[in-house]
Amino acid sequence: MNYFEYKNGELYGEDVPVAHIAKAVGTPVYIYSYKTLERHFLVFDGAFKGIPHITCYSCKANSNIAILRVMGGLGGGTDIVSGGELYRALQAGISPQKIVFSGVGKTEEEIKSAVKAGILMINVESADELAATRRVAREMKKKVPLSVRVNPQIDAKTHPYITTGLKKNKFGVLWDEAYRLYHEMQADEYLDPIGISSHIGSQILELGPFVEAIQSLKKMVLQLREEGIPIAYIDIGGGLGITYKDELPPQPGDYGKIIEKEMKGMGLTVILEPGRVLVGNSGILVTQLLYRKQGPGKTFYIVDGAMNDLVRPAFYDAYHEIIPVNRETGMDIKTDIVGPICESGDFFAKDRKVADLQRGEFLAIMGAGAYGFSMSSNYNSRRRAAEVLVKGKEFFVIRKRESFKDLIRGESIPSFLEV
Ligand code: LLP
Repeated sequence: MNYFEYKNGELYGEDVPVAHIAKAVGTPVYIYSYKTLERHFLVFDGAFKGIPHITCYSCKANSNIAILRVMGGLGGGTDIVSGGELYRALQAGISPQKIVFSGVGKTEEEIKSAVKAGILMINVESADELAATRRVAREMKKKVPLSVRVNPQIDAKTHPYITTGLKKNKFGVLWDEAYRLYHEMQADEYLDPIGISSHIGSQILELGPFVEAIQSLKKMVLQLREEGIPIAYIDIGGGLGITYKDELPPQPGDYGKIIEKEMKGMGLTVILEPGRVLVGNSGILVTQLLYRKQGPGKTFYIVDGAMNDLVRPAFYDAYHEIIPVNRETGMDIKTDIVGPICESGDFFAKDRKVADLQRGEFLAIMGAGAYGFSMSSNYNSRRRAAEVLVKGKEFFVIRKRESFKDLIRGESIPSFLEV
């Protein structure tokens, strides 16, 4: 469900013609729909209204501060994985008490800034990291609220690069180790074990793996409580999938129902870390057809967007629907839709049937709101794209297209090379 639709054969984002934005701001450009973001947040968050919970939007999916402000304004918190994301969340006005910090490699500096900000909890992912956290806590003389990210050894049945809850994955710790870490925390006056967390993967299309993970976390909570460790928060991560092509992901309402059932009588506040499901279909990447080139049995559409703007097809062989902006036409010719980057991996689609378009026409790459801009880079010294937020009849540039100066910001030529 999203608010990008054809009206009289022309693609609109809410009430603004996409071509109008593309002409005004240039391409490639990411366009997000406020109404879609709002709807997704309210539907997801509303699915848990029966239980104490905090929806901590996983901002790695799209960390623009305007998007974070939307989530915060609707009552959401943030799941962060770096000092940079903490900075963004605070800049966007997210309440520190709604921020959770995950990730296997938090530096002491990052832990310090999280403690200083007073975030809800840090999800510890190793014994070494706990030792670092202890050092920080002592130095700052602050009691630090913690959870252990447990690896529940569950197959989320998704792409191997985005599964995280298997024994072989680098994430979390196995239960025996987690149990030891909790006891270490409990014995330390500066460490406060208040939660337990897990995240098993992304783009998950069945509820079964979530149920399995939650049931094993519940067992752990009960065992910890028996030993006097009063766990109050259960962070069940993100991972709910979306439709890119013909997937049928579980509905948030059904997800909410099973969690509510599992949480009955547990006295726990549930932390949710959705990323993709909130922003994925709220955004598109608009690119212009630069050239057509005849290949063997197909036409290459060479567009001005590239893998540096949206890496998902190159990286995960991910499917994104691609449609013309200017007219609602049939799927007339077979194409490879490729960017200008000097790599054969620089494609958005292969052997894809799309409309027979002319140079200068715009194409919309759908479902690009999650892990689109946030994974973009400057490869081939390409300036990162602009980002626009549409609301009703208005649109707002929420990130300017980078300039050439931005490209070399921070670089310098050492004196011995000066001419
Ligand atoms: N929490 C943690 C600890 C995570 O590692 C992730 C995603 C999330 C929450 C949010 O998961 P989501 O609800 O978005 O599935 N770049 C990949 C996805 C990587 C996901 C990494 N972790 C892609 O483009 O498909």
